[in-house]
Amino acid sequence: KRIAIFASGSGSNAQKIIEHFKKNPEVEVSIVLANRPDAYVLQRADNFEIPTHVFDREEFTTSDSVVNLLTNLNIDLVVLAGFLWLIPTNMIEAFPNRIVNIHPALLPKFGGKGMYGMKVHKAVLNAGENESGITIHYVNAEFDEGEIIYQAKYKIEKGDDVDMIAYKGQQLEHQYYPKVIENLLKKLSK
Ligand code: GRF
Repeated sequence: KRIAIFASGSGSNAQKIIEHFKKNPEVEVSIVLANRPDAYVLQRADNFEIPTHVFDREEFTTSDSVVNLLTNLNIDLVVLAGFLWLIPTNMIEAFPNRIVNIHPALLPKFGGKGMYGMKVHKAVLNAGENESGITIHYVNAEFDEGEIIYQAKYKIEKGDDVDMIAYKGQQLEHQYYPKVIENLLKKLSK
């Protein structure tokens, strides 16, 4: 099975996924794609000698070039890991139920357009929640609205600040995203 990872930033999740599948000869991370040339994820991909592709908004939203690239590589599953743009319909149609995303909160709460990164954690704290978590879900044409595949929770303790809950969430993401992807790939091969 072959996966493609899309990211816009640091790519710590991308790195965990790459490391996880290095140990599994049946799964290849075939390419890492980014929408910014300065995204640190590109350097991480280089370190593992994984090919990369950088695209801009015009290429992504007005052409089939990204979809064609994925199709030509025979990608089975598209993994979004901190990728901040909406996925255009041509890509969703080309990969039905084959695009997954991770969100650093318990959807359907604290999701939607503009809810990313620290903004999510600030909103969670401001709402006085006593728990939060992560959500792995299929991607459809709306932000954070596709069918939920997996969630994991952590407790918010008195005195936790945004950095603390961001850290707790990131630990869960790193622990579970590679495993959930592996399970999805197993189901695809049946
Ligand atoms: C993660 O918190 C993920 O839930 C969100 O973006 C962040 C990406 O972090 N969608 P990183 O680039 O993998 O470090």
